[in-house]
Amino acid sequence: MSTLPKPVFSSISKLYPVGSRIVQGTITVLAVTLIHSLAVHAGPMSADSRGVIHELFASHEGFTRNVETTADGYRATTVSKDPEKAALLRKHVEQMGQRLHQGMSVRRWDPAFAELREHYDDMTVEIEKIDGGIAAIVTGKTPEAILVAQNHARIISGFIANGSAQMHVRHATAKKAETKTGTADKEACADCNQCNEDAESCPAKSGE
Ligand code: HEM
Repeated sequence: MSTLPKPVFSSISKLYPVGSRIVQGTITVLAVTLIHSLAVHAGPMSADSRGVIHELFASHEGFTRNVETTADGYRATTVSKDPEKAALLRKHVEQMGQRLHQGMSVRRWDPAFAELREHYDDMTVEIEKIDGGIAAIVTGKTPEAILVAQNHARIISGFIANGSAQMHVRHATAKKAETKTGTADKEACADCNQCNEDAESCPAKSGE
């Protein structure tokens, strides 16, 4: 069946009777690939998810995080004495997990998060509700996924240590860097002291 408009397809067919099928096939494959990639990666985060992230950044000092690197990933606990903050954190982790499990990306302008998306399906993430917050056990099924998971754990630790100052920072990929706190490749919005979601220049505006 032709997927090209009839006049276009029939003129191509007349000129190149065999080649036209190849052209049509190629266009179909490209269109399907494009639609798939848009469906997988597009879609901004909900305002609610972004609001939760902003609140977490704003209250970063109220969290205590402990990360232990394991042979195949890491274990981490993140807790707060404030039950509201603990609830916020649990909500955030659920929202992010849901998004990734649906095949969507998160913060894809940040190389480390684009890399997380690429390797997420090669990870196993177990989240357990504990007193004051959550425990995460993350393992990678490939050597790359292990490094990416560990890089992500360091980035979250950086978010908690630095709060909003870390929000617009691009983080190096696990491949590229032995990142320590994930502060490499800083490229923040120059004139954004707090997240101004209305600023056109804000890379986090869409939350994708
Ligand atoms: C732009 C900001 C942020 C983004 C895009 C983001 C994204 C993510 C993603 C994608 C996950 C993985 C979920 C999963 O594997 O199922 C995650 C987990 C987590 N996030 Fe965030 N996050 C952000 C900020 C924060 C902040 C500010 C905090 C804490 C104050 C935080 C704490 C956590 C914790 C504790 C986990 C569970 C994994 C672990 O403990 O290592 N995140 N986040």
